[in-house]
Amino acid sequence: MTIQELDLFQFRNYKKQNLTFGDGINILYGQNAQGKTNILEALYISSTGKSHRTNNYNDLIQSGQNGFEIKLRAKLKDRENSIIIRYSHDKKKSAEINGIRRDKLSDILGTLNMILFSPETLDVVKGSPAMRRKFLDILLCQTNRQYLHLLKRYNSLIKNKSIALKKGKSEKKYEEVIPVWNEHISENGGKIVYLRMNAINKLNQYMKKEIHKITDGAETSDLVYKTFCDIYEEKDEKYYENKLLKCLNEGIQKEMSISQCIYGPHRDDFEILLNGMNSRQYCSQGQQRTLALSLILAELFYIEEVKGEKPVLLLDDVLSELDLKRQEYLLRGLSNVQTIITTTDEIPFISLEKRKVKKFFIENGRAIPKVEKKKNLD
Ligand SMILES: Nc1ncnc2c1ncn2[C@@H]1O[C@H](COP(=O)(O)OP(=O)(O)O)[C@@H](O)[C@H]1O
Ligand SMILES: [Mg+2]
Repeated sequence: MTIQELDLFQFRNYKKQNLTFGDGINILYGQNAQGKTNILEALYISSTGKSHRTNNYNDLIQSGQNGFEIKLRAKLKDRENSIIIRYSHDKKKSAEINGIRRDKLSDILGTLNMILFSPETLDVVKGSPAMRRKFLDILLCQTNRQYLHLLKRYNSLIKNKSIALKKGKSEKKYEEVIPVWNEHISENGGKIVYLRMNAINKLNQYMKKEIHKITDGAETSDLVYKTFCDIYEEKDEKYYENKLLKCLNEGIQKEMSISQCIYGPHRDDFEILLNGMNSRQYCSQGQQRTLALSLILAELFYIEEVKGEKPVLLLDDVLSELDLKRQEYLLRGLSNVQTIITTTDEIPFISLEKRKVKKFFIENGRAIPKVEKKKNLD
């Protein structure tokens, strides 16, 4: 996939801006707080419906204005696609995908494929289980339409059941409804576990290869899925549905006594192991960066396998955090992947002579394309 054109209107510090991207490497450079990340944020929103920096769309509206618009043209499998996202204080959110209006922004998910690698990606490696669930959910929502529906249903069932567990202590009617909900929870939850298991399995294979290459075979990685029961790759979704139902039925008294939903994929996690050790506790900062980098590359190959096309890679402020060897590894390994990079230095790194490069100078909410006479930037 390639992004061709982006139009921003009253978005963050952009009053009105058009950007035409090249299909190789695009570098957005400039001082801090000029609007580099804002551009990546707009791109990310047009592929996920969500900002990676805020849950409140009001933050995205240019101060003093009433609404914003993001317009994107992208090529997918040689076909033109257009996405428009509008938001205003009074009319709320709406989207248009190829000219057809959608009221739910989640409809956008899966239309475009983008991966964001930012300093926060490190939290997937070193942060809480919730960060890893979020990483998995975004990936699966982008690549599997059924998953988004399962997750929405599952989350709302868990929310209602949590309320019922709290009220159940004083009102008997809730006690009767919980077994019925447990059936629905296990039906959706078992399928979620099955899909997560398969995704982690594939990511694991890709990640092993990347770690092997980056460390010249010196280190090995492993992703280990942790859910409410033991995992057997050969089992089907029905197995996990039945297993969850059994757990929920047997654990009903325990859940009632502490008024919490204990069993199910809302508590999932996956361990990222390096040389057999859990990277959260045992890895150095440098090793965690290497793991984050290889996880992002694994995600890229996973998306390519499932969707039949490479996603666009957004790199926000991460190159300066990687050493030269890893910068080279990342950029050389990504031929044929459209990449959009933000950086504070104009020419931050290594030889890019083999890749087509387009540069934009970002200053105070304006993006100015820099014309390069030569392809060779060294
Ligand atoms: N809603 C908004 N309206 C106007 N300006 C905004 C808004 N949100 C953020 N900004 C401005 O955007 C700039 C930060 O942009 P950002 O893309 O994060 O910078 P960087 O170039 O460092 O990545 C700051 O100057 C901030 O004041
Ligand atoms: Mg930034």
